[in-house]
Amino acid sequence: MPAFKELVFSGVQPTGNLHLGNYLGAIKRFVAMQAQFECLYCVVDLHAITVWQDPAELTRQIREVTAAFLAAGIDPARSVVFNQSQVPQHAELAWIFNCVARLGWLNRMTQFKEKAGKDRENASVGLYDYPVLMAADILAYRATHVPVGEDQKQHLELTRDIAQKFNNDFAGAIQEQGHGEAFFPITEPLIGGPAARVMSLRDGTKKMSKSDPSDYSRINLTDDSDGIATKVRKAKTDAEPLPSETAGLEKRPEADNLVGIFAALNDVSREDVLREYGGAQFSAFKGALVDLAVAKLGPIGAEMKRLVADPGHIDAVLADGAARAEAIAAPNIAAVKDIVGFVRRR
Ligand code: AMP
Ligand code: TRP
Repeated sequence: MPAFKELVFSGVQPTGNLHLGNYLGAIKRFVAMQAQFECLYCVVDLHAITVWQDPAELTRQIREVTAAFLAAGIDPARSVVFNQSQVPQHAELAWIFNCVARLGWLNRMTQFKEKAGKDRENASVGLYDYPVLMAADILAYRATHVPVGEDQKQHLELTRDIAQKFNNDFAGAIQEQGHGEAFFPITEPLIGGPAARVMSLRDGTKKMSKSDPSDYSRINLTDDSDGIATKVRKAKTDAEPLPSETAGLEKRPEADNLVGIFAALNDVSREDVLREYGGAQFSAFKGALVDLAVAKLGPIGAEMKRLVADPGHIDAVLADGAARAEAIAAPNIAAVKDIVGFVRRR
């Protein structure tokens, strides 16, 4: 595999409230990656409409996710912050990848099955095709690293399969046109840390999710200190004190989840947390978790509110990001079209 320039890409859907899982599993890690890599962070509005979105609400959510990126510490001067629908190359490459990906591959995607539910006949074609668009998002930039939560693992495997098949199917043209052994990198998923899968505060066996009907299941980035405190205090636990070793968290999903959240918020490991709180009752641990969560999330929520009050500024950030993103994607997609054998407009 030839060396590709290291580039980070990730996306977040502008659907529903951003919560602690999105923050710890994704956005907080996006912020940290800026020190080491050139990064693109995308508000994936084309993905959002794979299920029904009220138009005015979608507009609001696109700006709110952008505000969350900035409030969390993504620097739009250093990283490229933009929304997907402003860069036409995503949809263009997705079509070409539709003709590379196989039906059998998509039939295995578990997230489609979950999201489509029982009424699969009535799901949009876009929802089924969602992972192909995701591959196009990443590979339009030939991104080498993608930080995401655990739930995106299977989609990233599909991205790798599409890159591999494109490289193989078109190996002759890729060579002839001077791209060497492979046109697309085989992207590395970056899934990890203590909060790769944050669970519901009401049920430690269910993922924390935007679509859970109970707002007590999640901490939203826009919750105020009282809201955060109430949700943490009401979080489901068992009756035992905290163990002093991580092995003692096995089969205790709620305890494991709260310890993982504490660790991720404080940039330490579960072991570190248990070294301090092993033997403690949940009442005491939850008190410390409330203080920590309020200290870390409070300023982000406040900054989000300030930013969304100025949509003109957010729109300017997005426009600048889209121009910079397109400058990277356009030559890549032009090369893909040559490789496939299309005739360029002269
Ligand atoms: P989405 O809101 O589905 O676009 O997700 C945005 C990012 O947050 C993706 O990288 C997801 O993997 C991540 N994410 C969503 N829910 C969770 C969760 N409960 N725990 C950890 N990461 C999550
Ligand atoms: N599917 C991702 C999610 O729901 C969002 C997404 C779209 C994404 N395109 C992406 C994530 C590209 C990483 C890279 O969380």
